[in-house]
Amino acid sequence: MGKKRMSILVTGACGFIGSHLCERLLSSGYKVVGIDSLTDFYSQDIKRANIKKVIKKSNFSFINEEILSLDHIDEAVNYIFHLAAQPGVRTSWGDNFNIYVRDNVLATQHLLELCKEHKNLKKFIYSSSSSIYGDAESFPTKEDCTPKPISPYGVTKLAGEHLSVLYKRNYGVPIACLRYFTVFGPRQRPDMAFHRFIKAILEGNQIEVYGNGEQSRDFTYVSDVVNANILAMQKDTKEIIFNIGGGNYATINRIIHTLKELIKFNIKVEYKEKAKGDVRDTKADISRAKRELGFFPKHNLSFGLKQEIEWIKSIYNLK
Ligand code: UGA
Repeated sequence: MGKKRMSILVTGACGFIGSHLCERLLSSGYKVVGIDSLTDFYSQDIKRANIKKVIKKSNFSFINEEILSLDHIDEAVNYIFHLAAQPGVRTSWGDNFNIYVRDNVLATQHLLELCKEHKNLKKFIYSSSSSIYGDAESFPTKEDCTPKPISPYGVTKLAGEHLSVLYKRNYGVPIACLRYFTVFGPRQRPDMAFHRFIKAILEGNQIEVYGNGEQSRDFTYVSDVVNANILAMQKDTKEIIFNIGGGNYATINRIIHTLKELIKFNIKVEYKEKAKGDVRDTKADISRAKRELGFFPKHNLSFGLKQEIEWIKSIYNLK
């Protein structure tokens, strides 16, 4: 089937990764339907700005609705990228957990129920998270490492994965699950570390670090994550769960040092209590994604941070 006739549904189309994915799919000639309920977890103006370009494209249509209120999937849809979620590790405690269960578990199950009746579906690609591992048993972490999330958020992302696998086993829904490792770059969410740090530095405010700053992450540039999604759509694979990590390992203290070099040296840093639910380290073993998907991350920290700094300057009108 030619690209022009293929129709793709992207949930969470106005979000950080979803909006980049929509742009790439449209520029590759696919027809895209984006759905987003524009929740108020962060500024709706930022979300609208994220899709400013794509909304003008003739091959793009937008549904401003919740997944739970969908009663069918358009017959023409061949691929679904499920990125809509309530994100955020540290905000998933207490009463907020209701939102996480609703948007990450119930919404995913609802979408999978619709998928099971959908004969034209070629692949359902679920956006999962490194947070499902918790404090992993071994590094670099392989996909078969026992998942032991340590945040309520991680519990809900793992539930979404399990549900996807169940719908494959029982109803033959063709699925792939991509476990992203801390994604960064333009449009990164305002609650995430790089966004908060860069904004604070440019505004002359202090940076807050949760814990001693020696926690580390395998940072992944957003266009590499988009590539992984496209590859998961195109390739027939034996395995269905893939780590998607960028190979940019760094501690938070190291990141702050790099930001000093890139922006300015005079940065005030306040060390606060470690955040509950925060894992200590992440490091992805991506040999499976390399082998089966042909996924090779291309972008390093310095490149990605520069792109993110320029974007933050532009959205907040900072110099
Ligand atoms: C990120 C995303 O926010 C999750 O949605 C995603 O599921 C997860 O990656 C993942 O890889 O699975 P996280 O690694 O916590 O979660 O990313 P950041 O929010 O960028 O935080 C990175 C580290 O910086 C954490 O240790 C956090 O406590 C710390 N941090 C964050 C600070 O010290 N200060 C801040 O102001 C913000």
